[in-house]
Amino acid sequence: MREAEQKTVQKSRMNLTLQRRRRITHSRILCRVRFENMNDQPRLPLRSDGTAADACRPPPALVSPRPFLRWAGGKTRLLQALNPHFPTTFNNYFEPFLGSGAVFFHLRDRAFGRYFLSDLNDEIANIWRVVQSHPGRLLREVDKYQGLDTEDEYYAVRERATPRSNIKRAARFLYLNQTAWNSLWRVNKQGVFNVPWGARPFRGIDADSLRAVTRVIHDASIENIDFRQALAKPRAGDFVYLDPPYLPVSDTSKFSGYTGKRFRLADLEDLADICKDMTQRGVTWTMSNRNTPVVRELFGTAKMTHFTTRRSVAAQNRRNVEPADSPEIIVTNRAPC
Ligand SMILES: C[S@@+](CC[C@H](N)C(=O)[O-])C[C@H]1O[C@@H](n2cnc3c(N)ncnc32)[C@H](O)[C@@H]1O
Repeated sequence: MREAEQKTVQKSRMNLTLQRRRRITHSRILCRVRFENMNDQPRLPLRSDGTAADACRPPPALVSPRPFLRWAGGKTRLLQALNPHFPTTFNNYFEPFLGSGAVFFHLRDRAFGRYFLSDLNDEIANIWRVVQSHPGRLLREVDKYQGLDTEDEYYAVRERATPRSNIKRAARFLYLNQTAWNSLWRVNKQGVFNVPWGARPFRGIDADSLRAVTRVIHDASIENIDFRQALAKPRAGDFVYLDPPYLPVSDTSKFSGYTGKRFRLADLEDLADICKDMTQRGVTWTMSNRNTPVVRELFGTAKMTHFTTRRSVAAQNRRNVEPADSPEIIVTNRAPC
């Protein structure tokens, strides 16, 4: 009897162990299945700085990308006048005097190929590259300037050395761009920014608009180069929009330029030669400029359209701006449709 009892206990123990083993194996399988399924789950969208976007946050409303800088000579207000002089489609798009890129944002949908954006101003090239690769980190740096709206705070930022980090440098540039007098970027011969306070609050930058720009330029080539270097690349079927600095109206003009190097007559002559060469290569180009005898003479063989616009120019007291008539010219080698 005792022997029989012992056998029964042993059997039930064995059964228990077997059941336990089965349960463990089963839960391991379940666990693996669960983890495998997790891998199949759609992943959280990644921000461009590599961090995962917040799953609970609703997807951002569709915002169309637009200029994130106010730039002297920016073409936003002239887009309607310029539009008939742009081709409807083309292969690659080139803009070698980029600034705020107002025309780029207007034309980007018409390109089948890539965008080649460049400017000799290194602050411009830097901020475009930072917007392209580190929008999240830029937004965090820009936040640090919120509330610095007094004259003293402006001059404190202006006098501080330019940060070495490209992201911090882009944030400082954006702050100065929004708060400097007339949003002007002017440097002295040593390359030091010297524009007075503009008495305007710093608004920062809207996160969704910035991300919309990042999406559009993710694949663009953005370079800090002279137009001569940039314009060696376009091929037949490509389109180039040219918006060089206008030559000063007189030798005593106050605006000393966007970079330490002024744009002079010799530069415009080079540009005219390059345009002739591009025409021979089958590249379509359109240029904006001030309507002057020099421009008409240098680009004489191309199609020209004249019009007048109202521009903000420095007033006598240099603190204010006042509207003035500005004679403009659009020059293009584009064949009329
Ligand atoms: C009239 S602004 C362009 C404005 C632009 N279209 C916009 O809508 O904002 C001229 C630009 O040419 C750049 N620039 C000046 N000299 C240059 C050069 N030699 N090569 C390339 N870019 C130059 C300036 O830094 C400036 O951003």
